[in-house]
Amino acid sequence: MEQDVVEQIGTIVGENNYSTRIADLYTYGFDASIHHVTPEIVVQPRSTEQVSKLMKLANSLKIPVVPRGAGTGLCGGAVPLKGGMVMDLTRMNKIKEIRVEDLYCVCEAGVVYDQLQKALGPYKFTFPPTPGSAEACTIGGMVSTNASGMRAIKYGGTRDYVLGLEVVLPSGEIMQLGTRTLKNASGYQLDRLFVGAEGTLGVITQVTLKIVPKPKKMAMIIAGFDTLEKAGKCVSALIAKPLLPSAVELMDSTCIRAVNKAINAGLPDVAALCMIEVDGDPKVVAEELVEVVKVADSIGAVGLQQSDDPAQMAKWTNSRKSVMAALSRYGPGLVSVSLADDMGVPISKIPDAVVEFAKIADKYGVVIGTYGHAADGNLHTKMLLNPESPESWRAGEKAVRDIFDTCLRLGGTVTGEHGVGISKAPYFQKERASAIIAMKAIKNALDPNNIMNPGKMQDWDGYIIQHLRYPCADQNQ
Ligand code: LAC
Ligand code: ZN
Repeated sequence: MEQDVVEQIGTIVGENNYSTRIADLYTYGFDASIHHVTPEIVVQPRSTEQVSKLMKLANSLKIPVVPRGAGTGLCGGAVPLKGGMVMDLTRMNKIKEIRVEDLYCVCEAGVVYDQLQKALGPYKFTFPPTPGSAEACTIGGMVSTNASGMRAIKYGGTRDYVLGLEVVLPSGEIMQLGTRTLKNASGYQLDRLFVGAEGTLGVITQVTLKIVPKPKKMAMIIAGFDTLEKAGKCVSALIAKPLLPSAVELMDSTCIRAVNKAINAGLPDVAALCMIEVDGDPKVVAEELVEVVKVADSIGAVGLQQSDDPAQMAKWTNSRKSVMAALSRYGPGLVSVSLADDMGVPISKIPDAVVEFAKIADKYGVVIGTYGHAADGNLHTKMLLNPESPESWRAGEKAVRDIFDTCLRLGGTVTGEHGVGISKAPYFQKERASAIIAMKAIKNALDPNNIMNPGKMQDWDGYIIQHLRYPCADQNQ
């Protein structure tokens, strides 16, 4: 990047809020995906006005801009594919309003999920989605990817809580979208357009979120099964009962063994388990626990355990949250890579999906850990590969293709909560084939110079095993 452009950027954000140091640039080339590309400059704006000025400058010089939060995304959404500017919004981290009487709060894009939850705690309110990366991920990142997590079956994903957004367009124009009211019927729901847009249309600087009262009581049940298919059947049987648990997390034996080994989680050594959470009024929770046990028993559950002790429940939840990291310590030389890491199928198709995934793993000789938020049909299949071996990547890519074909055949989607970025792009294009023209038209209307996170989602061209963060030659198959 030319020195006078760097100086103009420095004038906008101030001396300590940008960097062109090689170590910083290298660091900002990552998110939590398999990809890496080094940008030319990193900026950390502190206000919407600074973002607006940066956008005007970038637009006039056609500099690519990738807005990002904590970089916990697993698909390359925050990797600066075309270089240019990474805009780190984590310095815009103020919670501006909490209005429990109006059921909303307003926060800047860089507020961390757990920080917001902590602030809502004393009011006995919550923003429920519960992403796996809650300690680090930002509200802006959650909106940009429509992230969710364990409690989406009962409480929905981020999309369901966005009332309004402040967004800066590539032109530098600042738009106030949506409202602070729970309802609005005011024309195009433009705020929704930016939910899941992964920074391809503009920069989200401020978010107005709906909040809800925290449930009074919570309890959990662990149910083991001698096949993965039975665990899947338990999930759909619970939903069809009908019951509305706040979470049903599924883990296969690979995941169970991985967390037992890595953090001594003490989970039962079974082929698969369901971790079921119910919440609400204490009387309702007690009744629902009885119902859950009946359903689990009817599917042949083994080793049922039940608790409403916060410490025990936190231990179980933590073991579930540790799956992804624990899988990297599953076997020597194998790393848990984010390939086919996230998909959704209609809930009743979970048993079919997990059986198919196991067959695909066998067919290509790859280890796959299957787990996820099964109650809403959202699964994760973490693939364990040797990241330095081209053959291992090739086997992985074939398995990814078959896994996503299976999901689409079952009426599902190639991403339930992690987004598209690079790693899902070709499969997403297949899934949404009839909508790609409209997406390109919207992108072109709002970002005519194509500076916002260019080359991703509908605009990605090629295969996914590229721009790898690992020391392995890129594969173009
Ligand atoms: C989880 C992340 C990977 O559920 O979505 O652990
Ligand atoms: Zn998840």
